[in-house]
Amino acid sequence: MTVSAPIIKVENLKKWFPVRTGIRSFFSEQRWVKAVDGVFFDVKPGDSLVIAGESGSGKTTLVRTMLRLIEPTAGSVNFEGEAVFTMIPDDLRLFRRRVQLIFQNPFEALDPRHTVKDLVGEGLVIHEMVSDEEELMKRVLNALEDVRLIPAEDFSRRFPHELSGGQLQRVAIARSLILEPKLVIADEPVSMLDASIRTEIMNLMTDLQKEHNLTYIFITHDLAQARYIGNWLIIMYLGKVMEMGPVEDVLQDPIHPYTQALISHIPIPDPTEERDRIDIPGETPTPIDLPPGCRFRPRCQAVDEYCTDDEPELQQIGPNRWVACHGWEARKEKKH
Ligand SMILES: Nc1ncnc2c1ncn2[C@@H]1O[C@H](COP(=O)(O)OP(=O)(O)OP(=O)(O)O)[C@@H](O)[C@H]1O
Ligand SMILES: [Mg+2]
Repeated sequence: MTVSAPIIKVENLKKWFPVRTGIRSFFSEQRWVKAVDGVFFDVKPGDSLVIAGESGSGKTTLVRTMLRLIEPTAGSVNFEGEAVFTMIPDDLRLFRRRVQLIFQNPFEALDPRHTVKDLVGEGLVIHEMVSDEEELMKRVLNALEDVRLIPAEDFSRRFPHELSGGQLQRVAIARSLILEPKLVIADEPVSMLDASIRTEIMNLMTDLQKEHNLTYIFITHDLAQARYIGNWLIIMYLGKVMEMGPVEDVLQDPIHPYTQALISHIPIPDPTEERDRIDIPGETPTPIDLPPGCRFRPRCQAVDEYCTDDEPELQQIGPNRWVACHGWEARKEKKH
């Protein structure tokens, strides 16, 4: 068996935003919103990693920092073995072509004054990947066919307001794919879309992954989507990875009480079946002035006295499983 090198490796990544308050005296300490607070993971080529967690857990900040769209506070990201945070501008440009980001809201991501042809072809021109207009048009039409916008010529002449939300998201996907990325990061790409077309777009993304040998990082707060699109799953809470492993293993046998609660809320398609829901009291707090010990402690159903001791680090507990919880061993012993 060959173990392939990760396509991207994230180590101890942190993004803290300064808290802005009205008056700051010389003596007052700067406080921080710890949006991403020491995240570790890597993704192997061909994998499809789902990052899930409630609103405010830091998912978007994590990917924006990874892509250096915002400056990191600490940590490192390696893409195909190269350190992203020290890349010179030429390498950074290439990195931003090889790693494409698809946003939640295609209405915002696409300039309404441009035709689909210009929107999809823009990157090819910027990165000087075509030599003439004819080649540009050919590549754009191919990309539109790839995302099943057919007849491609008709779609290429339209403006964003002449397309449905689902079609717009297909345009956004075509615009990314045309640059031949290796890694596609999709930040809740279907959550703004009508429920009826979410599956269509997710099917399209799964097909494209095979057709174009893509690696995915797919962000969602809907765990039902994880099984659909991913083979790996990360559960985030207040800027930290709480649990990580193969999607099926984590969904079948969640170890962290936070994961257990999230999973208990996934709707079951069969109405005759029932599942006990585990409440997560309160809302996700803002990650300022976190409590000592485990940051999930104030909302945890399995809280114990050791949870205040220190922050549980993400530890490997099986060949492919990681969890950040002091109590997992004690709970496992109780179960057996
Ligand atoms: N530019 C910023 N300045 C200050 N705080 C920020 C900034 N951007 C994000 N945050 C804070 O960082 C935390 C994480 O936000 P983020 O948008 O990354 O969460 P998310 O998991 O993507 O949530 P959602 O599921 O709603 O998209 C939040 O508390 C947010 O208020
Ligand atoms: Mg987000």
